[in-house]
Amino acid sequence: MNAPFKAFLINQDESRKIASSLTTMMPDQLDRGEVLIRVHYSSINYKDALAATGAGKIIRRFPCVGGIDLAGEVVESADPRFRVGDPVIATSFDIGVAHHGGYAEYARIPSEWVVHLPEGLDLFEAMALGTAGFTAALGIARMEVNGLTPDNGPVIVTGATGGVGGLAIDMLSQLGYHVVALTGKASEAEYLKMLGADEIKLRSEIDFDKVRPLEAAQWAGAVDNVGGQILHWVLATMKQAGTVASIGNAASFNIATTVFPFILRGVSLLGVDSGYIGFPLRQQVWERLGRDLKPRHLAAVTRTIGLDELPGAFDAFIRGEIKGRTVVRIGV
Ligand SMILES: NC(=O)c1ccc[n+]([C@@H]2O[C@H](COP(=O)([O-])OP(=O)(O)OC[C@H]3O[C@@H](n4cnc5c(N)ncnc54)[C@H](OP(=O)(O)O)[C@@H]3O)[C@@H](O)[C@H]2O)c1
Repeated sequence: MNAPFKAFLINQDESRKIASSLTTMMPDQLDRGEVLIRVHYSSINYKDALAATGAGKIIRRFPCVGGIDLAGEVVESADPRFRVGDPVIATSFDIGVAHHGGYAEYARIPSEWVVHLPEGLDLFEAMALGTAGFTAALGIARMEVNGLTPDNGPVIVTGATGGVGGLAIDMLSQLGYHVVALTGKASEAEYLKMLGADEIKLRSEIDFDKVRPLEAAQWAGAVDNVGGQILHWVLATMKQAGTVASIGNAASFNIATTVFPFILRGVSLLGVDSGYIGFPLRQQVWERLGRDLKPRHLAAVTRTIGLDELPGAFDAFIRGEIKGRTVVRIGV
């Protein structure tokens, strides 16, 4: 392959202001890697919006093709585990932040970052899930290893209308959990119920300034996408031996809490890092996403845009106006 292709490149001007735009690249401008992939789809995660707009210091190497997620077919490979024509997924690691990412018709990726497309998913579905779905599934897998089962009691999901939150609700519901969605958006109650939430709890019902170290014990599990005072409240309301997956910081990266949930109720706070989780767990989680963790409502939570629409797509993420997932159609 030696022809020009379209790419969305994130750059910095002399005053260190982010300037991103659609451009044309040649294959020899791509980074090093064993696998050249013709990208079919990418997606937009909150992190992509921070990177493309400069609202967050995400990019570690300029210029960089954005897009932390990609799915496509192998067109060249120097690693025998991947053959020409194989459908593959590549997310996480340095992709889209320090290594040219998924917002381009071609991507060259180190083979140790590439996952074979699992049975049960097509390339579009893989990107409807993307990092958000992978992270929700990884959080659930971590909680299961820590002993969480549907018999232990309800599981609460915070940041419920977000990409990770909505997919976590769908996955937990089909595994048989009683799922409680915590949201700031009363208007999205029906959407959350459609995804599988058994109960909706509004943030406005809770006085987060008056949370005691231990409150009435309610949850066997929790998927927390927001951090801050909400995570403190979640910890204070966990049942004995409850397990919390800490995924995000949509509200705050700070957490002020006490040791009481840990030493008096045996609560576990599990860290979830999708970015650098290695193999074989990475492949195993993707395989479950094509099987028992495959969301039932993936189409309903997903909208699709073209590569040309990317430049105008990010601001709504920064303003918190997006619901569900956005797939970017690249080379199909
Ligand atoms: N650990 C990892 O590997 C990993 C991977 C992916 C994402 N993340 C992080 O996980 C979080 C969720 O990601 P996402 O893709 O689902 O983001 P998203 O689609 O932007 O959703 C975030 C949701 O959080 C809630 N929220 C937003 N601002 C809030 C605030 N100030 N206070 C309380 N709640 C607020 C909103 O839901 P409601 O209105 O329904 O509450 C919003 O829809 C982000 O912080 C992201 O950076 C981490």
